[in-house]
Amino acid sequence: MKEPVERKARDQWGSRFGVILAVAGSAIGLGNFLRFPVRAAANGGGAFMIPYLIALLVLGIPLAWVEWTLGRYGGRHSHGSGPGVYHRLTGGRPWAKYLGVLTIFIPLTINFYYVFIEGWTLAFSLFAVAGTWNKAIRLGEMDKFLNGFVGAESNAYFNGPWMAIAVFLLVFALNYWVIYKGIRKGIESLARIGVPFLLLCAFALVIRVLTLGTPNAAHPEWNVNNALGFMWNLDLSRLADARVWIEATGQIFFTLSVGMGAILSYASYLRRKDDVTLSALTAASANEFTEVILGGSIAIVAAATFFGAAGAMQIANSGAFSLGFITMPYVFAQMGESGVMGFLWFFLLFLAGVTSSVSLIQPLISFLKDELNIGHVKAILLVAGLNLIVTGFIVATMRWGTLDEMDFWAGSVLPVVSALVMIVLFAFFIGVNRGFREMHQGALIRVPRIYKHIIKYVTPTYLVVLLIFWGIQDWWPTATMQRITDPTQAWMIGITRGLLFAIVLLLLYLVYRAHRMGKFPMKRVRGGTR
Ligand code: ALA
Repeated sequence: MKEPVERKARDQWGSRFGVILAVAGSAIGLGNFLRFPVRAAANGGGAFMIPYLIALLVLGIPLAWVEWTLGRYGGRHSHGSGPGVYHRLTGGRPWAKYLGVLTIFIPLTINFYYVFIEGWTLAFSLFAVAGTWNKAIRLGEMDKFLNGFVGAESNAYFNGPWMAIAVFLLVFALNYWVIYKGIRKGIESLARIGVPFLLLCAFALVIRVLTLGTPNAAHPEWNVNNALGFMWNLDLSRLADARVWIEATGQIFFTLSVGMGAILSYASYLRRKDDVTLSALTAASANEFTEVILGGSIAIVAAATFFGAAGAMQIANSGAFSLGFITMPYVFAQMGESGVMGFLWFFLLFLAGVTSSVSLIQPLISFLKDELNIGHVKAILLVAGLNLIVTGFIVATMRWGTLDEMDFWAGSVLPVVSALVMIVLFAFFIGVNRGFREMHQGALIRVPRIYKHIIKYVTPTYLVVLLIFWGIQDWWPTATMQRITDPTQAWMIGITRGLLFAIVLLLLYLVYRAHRMGKFPMKRVRGGTR
């Protein structure tokens, strides 16, 4: 076996704290501040936290430990993405490297639309300062304002999506510049600035929301206490609804970024003896604190304080975008603090977004460099070029739901499949005992032994059951386009699927190329602790 090639200094984390911040930055994203409060409020408030916590304990945290471990293991053999890691892990089984494509495809596809939305958050933070939306707020037309901005309609506010495209290009350039600077100087430095700053913005917003009191004298029952009661009321009857369990589990996946391949790639830049057990737990805990305590105290609580419980429920049911980009500007205007609060809110979302999106770009970059020997700059240009083409397609077609289509596959269905692959390879190919030994190299805390059983039996079963439920409830009707009546939309969704399929084929071909280059030797190698 060829000795692993030492990675360049540019491609190593500077410190343990830095990598924890980077993984926390990857996890803390738009999901924490928009998706979580909406899901929790719409699915039983406090009762939602029961399936949420169960999913965190038997799924989120064990998967985080497994993904960190597999990543560090792969990095030791100069593999920073799924194909190489899975090949090595399974002792060179020929199919394994192709399954690894999931861990590149998922983050890449999420990134195609995530970076675009990140642009909206930056633009809206500037609109807040400049008061660009004041007229729309006065006329109650923030929905038109947002639609005009993204190009879904031409109206008095925007004539085409030019502004959205301009900020997208800016944010796009920033993302690839960070990647260009490398793991330590780029991603780690961004996390060192971005994560503390976003926490500051979030704390400021939480304090402001919790001190709103009773802002509307005509509705004394619309106050912060009742708003918190609305957010966290314990409606246990909702636990009988399978959907609540599915939503809570999906949220754990999305928020922790587990199973997608982003953590795998980040962890591959650890050193052999760097801790993973405490680091994974710390990053996950930072994410959970930010999601539940901070994310759960801003948007929905503010909305319920100004619009009452019934109004807030309606807002929660209209979705995360509507809450973030339409309702929140009204809330800030009602406070009379549109500029400062609006800026803090959207800049917070921007920082949360950018520290996540760089982690979504990195896996394909790592793959191109590690497995195809492509240079750093060339790899960046290739990924950026593909990003421009696909995001361009999204901008031109999103009115037909193409963005949601990509999110459905890459953000909801495939991470569960990918996590199942990851956990099965870990539990049954390395084997839990060897896997645990690998996990505990350089470990700063011991993972409780019960997690051996959880990883082997509970997590995979949980994932399979989840996939079956989804199959019945949601993904089959969506996959077969049962709810689509507009023929143009059906075409657009068909084209989107074709595009995604073409990207999968391209990635499979690249894995094959790497195989032909001798990157995945067929010789049986023992996985595990080497
Ligand atoms: N984990 C990231 C988020 O919550 C993707 O937005």
